Formats: sequence, C-alpha cells, structure tokens
Amino acid sequence: MDLGLGGKSAVVTGGSVGIGSAIALALAGEGCDVAINYRRHKVEADEVVRRVEALGRRGLAVQADVASFQDAGRMIRTAVETFGRLDILVCNAGVTWDGVIWKMTEQQWDQVINVNLKGYFNYNRAAALVFKDQKSGKIVNISSINGMRGKFAQANYAASKAGEIALSKSLARELGKFNVNVNVVAPGLVMTEMAREIPQEFLNKAMDETVLGRFASPEEVADLVVYLCSDRSRHITGEVIKIDGGQYI
Ligand SMILES: NC(=O)c1ccc[n+]([C@@H]2O[C@H](COP(=O)([O-])OP(=O)(O)OC[C@H]3O[C@@H](n4cnc5c(N)ncnc54)[C@H](O)[C@@H]3O)[C@@H](O)[C@H]2O)c1
Repeated sequence: MDLGLGGKSAVVTGGSVGIGSAIALALAGEGCDVAINYRRHKVEADEVVRRVEALGRRGLAVQADVASFQDAGRMIRTAVETFGRLDILVCNAGVTWDGVIWKMTEQQWDQVINVNLKGYFNYNRAAALVFKDQKSGKIVNISSINGMRGKFAQANYAASKAGEIALSKSLARELGKFNVNVNVVAPGLVMTEMAREIPQEFLNKAMDETVLGRFASPEEVADLVVYLCSDRSRHITGEVIKIDGGQYI
C-alpha cells in the first residue's frame, strides 16, 4: 500500500532511541525527511540521521530539551528552514520516575509532568502554528495505556499520559477546520530502555495481561504511527488507538 508520504517532512521528538528511533526510521522508509531531537543521546541521534540518509532522505538531529518552550520553537523552525516544509509531528519523548504517592516527591511529579505533558504542549503548539497556516498537517502523540487506566506507582506518569490524551482531543477539535489530524497512539509495554527499568515481577504481570502473549516491538508501534501520519487515515482524528496485544481490554 503506497502511503503517499514521499517528499513529506517530519519532526519526531525523542527520536534517538527506543520507539522514537523506530518511528523516525519507518517514516524515512516511506520517503519522509526526518528531524529528531535529543537531550543526551548525541551518538545515537547521529546514528539515526545516518540511517535516515542511507534511506535516501534528509535527516537532522537537534539538541533540544522538550520541556523547554523556547527549544520547541527553535526545533520546529529549524526543521521548516532545513526541509522547506513540515507535514508531520510525532511527540514521543517521555520519561518515568515511579513511586507510590506517599513516597513521591515534588521533584518526581514536576519532572515527569514537565517532560511528558508540558513537552507535548510545547511541540503541539509550535507545529500547530505551521499547520494552521498551511492548512494541512498530522500530529501523532504517543501516550500509554496507563494514561487510560492508571497504574500503581505511576501517578505522575499516568496523569501526564492522560493529559496528553485530553490535549490531543482538544487540538483535534481546534485544528480540524484547518485540515489537521491529531491522534494518539497508546502502547502497552514495549521493551525499550524505559521498560528495562521495570522490576521483573511487574514485567511478568504485564506479560500475563496480554492476550497475544508478547509485548510489541518498537517497529510495530511505528507501523501504526506511520499509518496515522499518512492520508490513508485522513478521516481519523481525535482518536486514541491502543497497541498493546490486548493488555488493556
Ligand atoms: N516502553 C514502553 O513500555 C512504553 C509504553 C507505553 C508508552 N510509552 C511511551 O513511548 C514513548 C517513548 O518511550 P520509549 O519506551 O521509547 O522510551 P526511551 O526511554 O527508550 O526513549 C525516550 C526518549 O525520550 C527522550 N527524552 C526524554 N526526556 C527528554 C527531554 N527532556 N528532552 C528531549 N528528549 C527527551 C530520550 O532521550 C529518548 O530519546 C514515551 O512517550 C513513553 O511514555 C512507552
């Protein structure tokens, strides 16, 4: 199926490792130029750019903290200047800092909300300014099933992920008349650096929850994101699509 993504350009936040790098490479594989941002993973970010270029597309890595409003504006402007256009934003950069509520510090709460929720606001807003003027654009925000069901010891993370869903539904309403689709992908457990911090006992529990008996790969999440970035999904907006092997039915 030709997704018609050839010649489009995309920004993927947190695109240096994990799910973000799989999304960046999948978009490049469909013909998109791709800009990623990174905070600390410069070597990995440069490697993703090299692989994007090996696919015959332009790649760009920008050091930018997603929690910074100024950095987001700079990153989106740089992508537009470098590629001459911007068609797609995938907000993916995220962190966890788990703990039960009676042990959770203010710092734990603030950091997760600042990166996950404010970070998505920063990039959605900056891209919306471009998309509204050009009267087209696709936004895909990576949330989590834990933003839909809550999670033990993840009050900060689950709240941020629920906030991303509410942000996305609101923007779908605001931007629909400008031909901009805003959707959410909500993965279950995916074995990345983030998941490797989870104790084995909790991983076993999550595995038991899946009805397919396995976790998704980052590439499987990327396949769904690519579809939502294409015009094949043009009548889908304000939607939250789980990709979790039935972990949360
Ligand atoms: N792995 C899972 O089980 C899982 C499940 C559901 C949802 N998710 C979501 O998927 C997304 C990607 O997660 P992942 O598993 O690939 O995690 P990961 O830890 O492998 O990657 C996270 C990325 O975000 C970047 N990042 C973190 N803080 C940043 C900041 N302040 N500024 C810029 N970049 C920053 C990191 O550098 C990294 O590139 C996250 O939004 C996460 O919440 C992951």
